Amino acid sequence: MGIADRTVQSSRQGPLPTSPTASRPSWPEGSAEIMSTATLSVALEREHQEVDAGLEAFLAKLAAGSVDTDALHGTLAALRRHIYLEEQLLFPPISKGAQMMSVFGMIRGHGEIWRTMDALDDLATGPGDAADRDELREACRRLLTLLADHNKVEEPVIYPAADTALAPEQAAEVADFLASGRMPDGWVCAKAAM
Ligand SMILES: [Fe+2]
Ligand SMILES: [Fe+2]
Repeated sequence: MGIADRTVQSSRQGPLPTSPTASRPSWPEGSAEIMSTATLSVALEREHQEVDAGLEAFLAKLAAGSVDTDALHGTLAALRRHIYLEEQLLFPPISKGAQMMSVFGMIRGHGEIWRTMDALDDLATGPGDAADRDELREACRRLLTLLADHNKVEEPVIYPAADTALAPEQAAEVADFLASGRMPDGWVCAKAAM
């Protein structure tokens, strides 16, 4: 594991006592030359884990009787931003040859994930009675299942190309977005409407 790998992992897990800059995920601008080849896939998988953890935490609170709408919206915003990054920055340069069909499958999967997020958003802003909570729990579990199925293909089939198939400036662009990028307001994924 290279230095850049450790930087990503530690920054995503919180600050280390020895590193005053580790509390935020960051690559210096134009940092392609210091990124190891494993950095991007590790950071992308970390985002998967963070989204899963956010949804699991929401379910745990729901089971205890509270609907943490703010936390749910934060988790869904992180997932939408992750999908934006993939469809706008990562997939276009690697979507060629043998990889093309796999990427297409991921984009189609994003559509179903996106619609499930929209349904969750609607449920979370509803009146909040017991029936709504059952629906909320169902939708949240459905999203977790969709993500598990999606990520178990994306991580071994697509993400290795993030480490090996991007030009240095493309890799730097993905790294910069991971560190501080913002999804444009109103953006929706390619297959959001089926
Ligand atoms: Fe992903
Ligand atoms: Fe994806």
